[in-house]
Amino acid sequence: MDQSNRSSIIISILLNQELEFVGDADRLNQVLVNLVANAIKFSEPDSRIVVAASENADHVRVEVRDTGRGVPDHLKQSVFERFKQVDPGDAAKRKGTGLGLAISKAIVEKHGRAIGVEDNRSQSHDAKKGSVFWFTLPKADEKVSADEA
Ligand SMILES: Nc1ncnc2c1ncn2[C@@H]1O[C@H](COP(=O)(O)OP(=O)(O)OP(=O)(O)O)[C@@H](O)[C@H]1O
Ligand SMILES: [Mg+2]
Repeated sequence: MDQSNRSSIIISILLNQELEFVGDADRLNQVLVNLVANAIKFSEPDSRIVVAASENADHVRVEVRDTGRGVPDHLKQSVFERFKQVDPGDAAKRKGTGLGLAISKAIVEKHGRAIGVEDNRSQSHDAKKGSVFWFTLPKADEKVSADEA
């Protein structure tokens, strides 16, 4: 078999603790799948993608970090609009319709939270920074214990 077209991607999942959030599992899975698929699509072969989740008092935050070509500042809002692609060649070359992020935004906003993209600054060398696509979700209700009341 010809191996020359094969490429690999390393996906690291960072979870320090079990996080619980409220939402429609199928829909939220769709958001995560789209962000990971995008990260793979817009990264070089053999690069690393990190999926991480954390929480604060108000929400759970999930992020997908890549070291790919990144999203220019002036398109950081509009990539979440339907059919908006950074490069007009993305539709054909990268096989996409430009709907994934618009659908993801609608799903996350239906859960009352937000989605966005930032530059990936976690790289020590700034040759190719890539992007961090993040979204937040409502935390599962916590019972306040008698000790804390
Ligand atoms: N991780 C990323 N790095 C760089 N650019 C990205 C990344 N994710 C998305 N983009 C840019 O945003 C555009 C919109 O993404 P979106 O997921 O909506 O569409 P798509 O992946 O092109 O098509 P679809 O998701 O409908 O198959 C992409 O075409 C690409 O130009
Ligand atoms: Mg997509």
